[in-house]
Formats: sequence, C-alpha cells, structure tokens
Amino acid sequence: MSRSTRILGTGSGLPPRIVTNADLATELGARGLETSDDWIVGRTGIRQRHLAAPDVTSSQLATEAAGNALQAAGLGPADIDLIIVATSTPDYVFPSTACLVQKALGVEQGAAFDVQAVCAGFVYALATADSMIRTGLARRALVIGAEVFSRILDWNDRGTCVLFGDGAGAVVLGAADEPGILAARLHADGRHESILRTAGNVSGGAIIGHPFLTMDGQAVFKLAVTVLDQVGREVVEEAGLQLADVDWLIPHQANVRIMQATAKRLGIPTSKVIITVDRHANTSAASIPLALDAGVRDGRIQPGQRVLMEGVGGGFTWGAVLARM
Ligand code: ACO
Repeated sequence: MSRSTRILGTGSGLPPRIVTNADLATELGARGLETSDDWIVGRTGIRQRHLAAPDVTSSQLATEAAGNALQAAGLGPADIDLIIVATSTPDYVFPSTACLVQKALGVEQGAAFDVQAVCAGFVYALATADSMIRTGLARRALVIGAEVFSRILDWNDRGTCVLFGDGAGAVVLGAADEPGILAARLHADGRHESILRTAGNVSGGAIIGHPFLTMDGQAVFKLAVTVLDQVGREVVEEAGLQLADVDWLIPHQANVRIMQATAKRLGIPTSKVIITVDRHANTSAASIPLALDAGVRDGRIQPGQRVLMEGVGGGFTWGAVLARM
C-alpha cells in the first residue's frame, strides 16, 4: 500500500481566563456599547470565549497544544521533523511562530514554517503536511492552529468584538501504511478579500492602514455556507465515499447558524456535528483542531471513524480534509 498520513494525537492550549457574554455586556456597557447574552447567543451560538493575558502569545498557546498532542501520541521532540503553524496573529513579523514553537519544544531537526489562510489555515496546513509526508519530505509532523485574535479586534465595535476568542489546537501526524488522511481540497478567491480582513501593516515603525478586523457579516455568512457545502461534497467524492460515510463533521467554528446550515445542505444530521463555538467562540485557525481535540477527548470520535474537517475564512479561503482516525 502507498504511503499515507495518520493522525497520531491531538491537543489543546486555551488561556485560563473565561469571559462570558454577560461579562462582555458589562464591560462594553461601561463604555456605552450595548450588547446582551440573548443577542450574542441568538445570532451566533457563542456563550463564552477564552481570552489571553496581554503578555501571552500565539507561540505559547501553540506550544502548550503541541505538548498535549505529543503526549497523546506517545511521542517526543526528537520524533518530529516538520512543524507547521497556521496563524493570522503571529508573535512577530519574523521569525515564524513555528520556529518559536520548535525552540520552545526543544525540536532540533526538520522544517518549520507558518501558513496564513486565516480561518481556513488549519486545513491548509494539514493538507500541506499530508502532501509532505506522502512524498517523503517529512515523517512526523506537528500541525498547529494558534491565535490571539483578541489583539486584532476593535473593542469599540460590538459587531465584531463579541465573536472571537484566543486558543490553539494541534495534531501530530505520522507516515503510515494504512490510510488516515483520505482526501483534501483547497480553494481561494481573492476577489472577495474585502469582506473580511485586517488591512494593516507595519512600515517604517508605524502602523499603515487599519490594524483591526473588519467584516461584512452577511456577505461572509452567505459565501461560507455555499463554499462549505461545495468543498465538503468535493472531498468526499475525491475519497470515493458518500456523505453518509462521514461519522463527524467539524466545520470552522465561527457561528452555529453557519454550521447548522452547512450540515443541512450536506444532509448530515446535526447530531454528527462537533460544536465548540459555544465555549471557545471563533478562534480562527485554532477552531478546527480545538473541536477535534474536544471530540477525541470526550470519547465521541473513535478510532476508525471518518471526520470531515472544513475551514473557511478571509482571503477568501476555504478547504476540507477527510480523515480516518
Ligand atoms: N449586540 C447587540 N446588537 C448588535 C451587536 C451586538 N454585539 N452587534 C451588532 N448589533 C446590532 C447592529 O447594530 C444592528 O442594529 P440595527 O438594526 O439597529 O442597525 C443589528 O444588531 C443587526 O446587525 P447585523 O450586523 O445586520 O446583524 P446580523 O443579523 O447580520 O448578524 C452576524 C451579525 C452575527 C455577524 C452575522 O452577520 C453572521 O453570523 N455573519 C457570519 C460571519 C461570521 O460569523 N463571522 C465570523 C468571522 S468570519 C469567519 O470566521 C469565516
């Protein structure tokens, strides 16, 4: 059998501070911005989010998640020869967050780099690592989604600041003879770049442009549901399977209404959808590996089951990976 890629372990890293919708309503209310638990839950399904302390970075959360994934896999730093971190909130312009994780973990060999595909970043990174393992460029990889999205939110914009949280999720991948990752599909359409972006930069020691996230929520909602339906069908067909063969759907955790609409279009019952957006809010590239780890650790996702992971985000970018656990 040809070389394949298996998921050997999963892990999470969440900052300890939990901020509920009621906490946010009080905080924003003190600045004259009205919001409520009812509004946030009704529109998004979000009940709380984890927010990182000011000195905590994406690489620190990524390192915690990676350590937990390595422990679950029964492996150590000496076993890893590839680290890919998906993030839109890196510690620095450079070096990459992945190199900082490599140093923190004590990994002294292999390659390390970041992937920037916003909320689709984890599926982009997973598909990249899978390709590298199947072609023999790597044997065992850490693929991590890590974000401190709270840093790029305008806390005076109630339309966006209530939607996001901080955290990291990780998987350890290894070359195997038995099929693990069954198929992957990636897409982008830069014509939609303006509906979801943080259109700022650092130049000459100053911020150029706008350093906070902006979004056309309704345009994002419509596009997300359409492309998640399309790419879910594509990847299942690519694997030579039917949608009925999917045991668990893990869509990007942005909004419970997007997830429910996607599952409905795909004909997958909502009982097969792993949902963590209520606890984590939208953690961008970290949302899928965090949900995967939650499903594995609470015993819902079992070895041998097929998991359909679907990411969608700024760019516009989207993609799906179908994996046998
Ligand atoms: N609390 C109370 N009221 C609010 C809040 C808030 N936090 N935010 C906005 N409102 C108000 C608006 O001011 C507006 O008031 P008005 O009617 O008096 O003008 C009203 O609520 C409706 O605002 P809309 O923006 O039209 O609300 P909408 O129904 O579109 O819901 C939402 C907004 C939840 C963002 C929705 O568009 C959505 O789900 N979009 C999907 C995008 C998404 O989830 N993005 C996450 C990141 S994208 C990604 O990860 C792929």
